[in-house]
Amino acid sequence: MAFEKVADLEQVPVGSAYQVEVGGEPLSLVRLDEVTVKAVHDVCSHEEWSLSEGWVEDNTIECDLHGSVFDLDTGQPEGLPAVKPIPVYACEVRDTEIWVDPEKQLNDAPVPRHL
Ligand code: FES
Repeated sequence: MAFEKVADLEQVPVGSAYQVEVGGEPLSLVRLDEVTVKAVHDVCSHEEWSLSEGWVEDNTIECDLHGSVFDLDTGQPEGLPAVKPIPVYACEVRDTEIWVDPEKQLNDAPVPRHL
């Protein structure tokens, strides 16, 4: 697979996160400024919860269920209760569109599975 268009830039206001489904997985598109969008897996590594419901600040997203904050480059949690990273994916802004390559994971975090 390669990069695919997953959303229009206008669907993701600056400072917010937006859930999309790519390759059968829920991803969270996180818009940091006018031209910067990061893509991470949308499921928190702590419990089954959508990270796109959380808060965006300084290249992080905070899970709104228990408050773990994840770095959007490394996927690492900066505080408990989460202890595992979340997957980070290649993401580009092309003109007014957001493109993601779901097979190009930028860290080695396992895909969150909560059974
Ligand atoms: S579900 Fe995200 S920190 Fe608990």
